[in-house]
Amino acid sequence: MSDHATSSSRIRTEIAGTSVLKLVERFGTPTYVIDESTIVDRITDLGRFDVIRYAQKACSNLAILDLMRRQGVLVDAVSGGEVRRALAAGYKTGGDPPPITYTADIFDRDALDLVIQQNVHVNVGSPDMIDQLGQVAPGRNITFRINPGFGHGHSQKTNTGGQQSKHGIWYEQLDECLQRADRYGLGVSGLHMHIGSGTDLEHLAQVCGAMEKVVLQAGRTVTSISAGGGLPVPYKPDDSSVDLGRYFQLWDAVRKRLEDHCGHAIHVEIEPGRFLVAESGFLLAEIRAVKRMGSNLFYLVDAGFNNLARPILYGAYHPMSVVPSDGNARRPEYDVIVGGPLCESGDIFTQEEGGFVAKRRLPAAVVGDYLAIECAGAYGFVMSSNYNSRTMAAEVLVRDGTPYLIRSRQTFDDLVRGETIPPAAE
Ligand code: LLP
Repeated sequence: MSDHATSSSRIRTEIAGTSVLKLVERFGTPTYVIDESTIVDRITDLGRFDVIRYAQKACSNLAILDLMRRQGVLVDAVSGGEVRRALAAGYKTGGDPPPITYTADIFDRDALDLVIQQNVHVNVGSPDMIDQLGQVAPGRNITFRINPGFGHGHSQKTNTGGQQSKHGIWYEQLDECLQRADRYGLGVSGLHMHIGSGTDLEHLAQVCGAMEKVVLQAGRTVTSISAGGGLPVPYKPDDSSVDLGRYFQLWDAVRKRLEDHCGHAIHVEIEPGRFLVAESGFLLAEIRAVKRMGSNLFYLVDAGFNNLARPILYGAYHPMSVVPSDGNARRPEYDVIVGGPLCESGDIFTQEEGGFVAKRRLPAAVVGDYLAIECAGAYGFVMSSNYNSRTMAAEVLVRDGTPYLIRSRQTFDDLVRGETIPPAAE
């Protein structure tokens, strides 16, 4: 542990122009705070694509879905629950392009009933889904999610292509699946590929070539192609932003060649989750203990992997800053380990893949200061759990400088809802 010159680079006092101390005073901790203007900026960045379809699994709060809808962003759902969320946020069904798509590798029974009743477009990820849908709803249009035989993600756990992955229709089975669809009069109006989450331009570019091949094979019924999600965001200080101009050009070139071949217009969809919401989100926690273990200094906060699972799951790096409760931004910095309250040694926010604890340079802190875990808007709240019987965090949206509570903190009653104690044996 070494002292360092005073610095304010890892000190944060406001989010979207709103005082963090006021936010925590009003909403408590742990709380997710989402800056709406960052989401709107990211939507604008993708404006050249014909359709932006939000992969709501990244952050599915109704207020976020409502924002996306008002911004003209369409939505993807991966479960019956996500379809219901989209409907509750005002998305309609039917039409071209379909406002809601259901992209999955199985239909559970609830989801199959729902997509039929509500006329939700299905992006099929397994041959069996073609039969299951065709038997009860022949004559519809569907799209195929194709696994192109390769994939890439920020972690092996987020790589969704290649033979090791359960996702999509294997590219060599395209003809067989087209024939299956034919049997039920299902029209294949589009093809989709998503090779993984948090990948890079090099791998995303390979998808363009793979897509071109399968569309030529599928034939002229195709009117839309989807590039899936996967766009990376800068989590680490030296991570660069993806060259969106270049990415669009690659897809636009594929589109033009396919339009020439097919003789009709083809829409290019993009389906990001992380890119749209990651940078907008902050997890605010209070520092409740500052303690030494030999030469290591730990900050223990009141949020754990029950609130943000990405570090324990993937060794994911999230920027962090200290929010001084006394407003004093001039503090020395130390290399510290940041952990949560859970009764499990892996409850560490500063860890690398494989569970190896890492240190982070952060300003000196005392109990009662706050910690902002940043870039936490994607796959943050949505992956939270009630482990250790901890209630889930509140969510707050800052719109035009005004904070709105968009999800209240869970209560103990929420936690035990549905649990019953059977009568004692006589
Ligand atoms: N489309 C499909 C079909 C997907 O499976 C996914 C992500 C996306 C789009 C959005 O991908 P994105 O643009 O967000 O990379 N929990 C992990 C990420 C899992 C992503 C699963 N599918 C994490 O925290 O990194």
